[in-house]
Amino acid sequence: MKLMEKTSVISVESVKKSSLEELAGIKDAKHLEQFRVKYLGRNGVLTAVLRSLKDRPLEERRATGPAANALKNELEKRVAEKFHEFSSSPAGDFFDVSRPGKKVKIGHPHPLAVIEREMREIFGSLGFASVDGPEIETGYYNFDALNIPSDHPARDMWDTFWLKNQNLLLRTHTSPMQVRFMENHQPPFQIIVPGRVFRYEATDASHEINFYQLEGLMVGKGVSLANFKAVIEEFFKRFFNKPVEFRYRPSYFPFVEPGLEVDIKIIQNSKLKTQNSGWLEVMGAGMVHPRVFEAAGYNPRELTGFAFGMGVDRLAMIKYKIPDVRLFYAGDLRLTAQFK
Ligand code: DAH
Repeated sequence: MKLMEKTSVISVESVKKSSLEELAGIKDAKHLEQFRVKYLGRNGVLTAVLRSLKDRPLEERRATGPAANALKNELEKRVAEKFHEFSSSPAGDFFDVSRPGKKVKIGHPHPLAVIEREMREIFGSLGFASVDGPEIETGYYNFDALNIPSDHPARDMWDTFWLKNQNLLLRTHTSPMQVRFMENHQPPFQIIVPGRVFRYEATDASHEINFYQLEGLMVGKGVSLANFKAVIEEFFKRFFNKPVEFRYRPSYFPFVEPGLEVDIKIIQNSKLKTQNSGWLEVMGAGMVHPRVFEAAGYNPRELTGFAFGMGVDRLAMIKYKIPDVRLFYAGDLRLTAQFK
């Protein structure tokens, strides 16, 4: 308080005088910086004057305030000018063009993006085109068109984020793109649909409320499960770059008939045939249900097709031995930086 009381109308004048004199004598950037800190820094002389004003009577504030502010602006301007002068003068720092540049820190793709790109590339080389679908979906495409009517028990399999007052939801799987795509395209075709999906559920090491799937669909005359088997076995061998064994189990999904689930076993060391991982469940699949073809306006007597859906996160976890799906979404650079 004592110190502040000393700063008054007179002191603005005296600060002005002494600071301008001092500034005139400065010849290099280092001293200029010291000057700047002394007067304009957070604990600087002028800053203290300005700060002390609020404890002054109104009249004095009226008289001193503008002068102190004007001085602050003037000093800031002159300091900036002088910095500029020093840095652009030929006598300033010599610029060595041969000096190594500063290393620029660049980002890197997220592990899920890396995995998705790999998957696209493998399927691409097998003749599958990659298409995108909306993350906000209608109840029709997410459920009804896939042979899941409102009273169907299978709807309980998906706890869903519904949008307020509308028949809209955050898609629970990438399968709705099957019908969307078929509505606008004629077979034969083979596509994959990588994308983000949402489920309203408690999170744990293997469940997230949002994650990624990759849907596959191949439709034509005479497409069979043998085609599916060939495609998917080739995919997994390339994806893991190791020998893989397969197991096909009958299963149920309303939009395929027959439906099945695929398990894989990765052979870590083919010579010793040891260190095998156990069986891992990696996807649902099946032959496209006639009702789904009908919803798309196709004639189910003329066409057949297979469909499959797999979890991108899950495959990334298996491939890179990541124990917890939540790590993908935690924004921890210690994880992502390993995927440069
Ligand atoms: N949509 C299913 C899910 O999210 C996965 C799935 C199963 C996709 C079978 C398919 C399929 O295309 O044929 O659990």
